[in-house]
Amino acid sequence: MTDYTIRPFMPEDTEALAEVFRCSIEELGPRDYSAAQVAVWASRVPDASVLQARLTDGRKVFVAESGKPVGFIDLEPDGHIDLLYVTPDVAGTGVAVALYKTLEQAARQTGLTRLYTEASEGARRFFLKQGFTELHRRDFDLSGIKIHNYTMEKRL
Ligand SMILES: CC(C)(COP(=O)(O)OP(=O)(O)OC[C@H]1O[C@@H](n2cnc3c(N)ncnc32)[C@H](O)[C@@H]1OP(=O)(O)O)[C@@H](O)C(=O)NCCC(=O)NCCS
Repeated sequence: MTDYTIRPFMPEDTEALAEVFRCSIEELGPRDYSAAQVAVWASRVPDASVLQARLTDGRKVFVAESGKPVGFIDLEPDGHIDLLYVTPDVAGTGVAVALYKTLEQAARQTGLTRLYTEASEGARRFFLKQGFTELHRRDFDLSGIKIHNYTMEKRL
């Protein structure tokens, strides 16, 4: 079992989180998406300076650390979950569940009554297990490649 802690984001995590972001897409994405879809999705991973600006814009960000960052999740002030990524070596070990539970507790403490997200196929399976409802499938085009995700919500 993976030994890890969940803690708030620190700016010095940024480079490691950009790597978690990229390798999560490249190695876990192919479970559900074609090579072309994974490539266009991974090409959208922001570089460290852009990612740091996003993660310090007032949202809450929690990091799972196991010697180094192995996953992260964010919560925007309106209840939107924008990012949830874990490294392939900890996928399926409960790290993402622990990140999500920390986020839900923080959301409840701030009085939020609704969480929502646009979930990939893998994240859709994950969020259904956390009590989310699928609202609708979103089909769209990224640089000429058709790809899809699902709008999901959970009432708290
Ligand atoms: C979406 C994503 C974060 C979900 O992560 P995950 O690996 O399914 O989630 P966890 O690490 O919490 O693992 C959950 C599994 O571990 C199991 N598990 C093992 N030990 C556990 C523990 N102590 N506590 C809870 N669950 C545990 C659970 O039973 C569950 O198994 P199941 O899926 O067979 O039901 C991950 O697949 C990912 O990073 N995907 C690629 C990127 C992506 O799509 N991100 C979302 C963008 S919208």
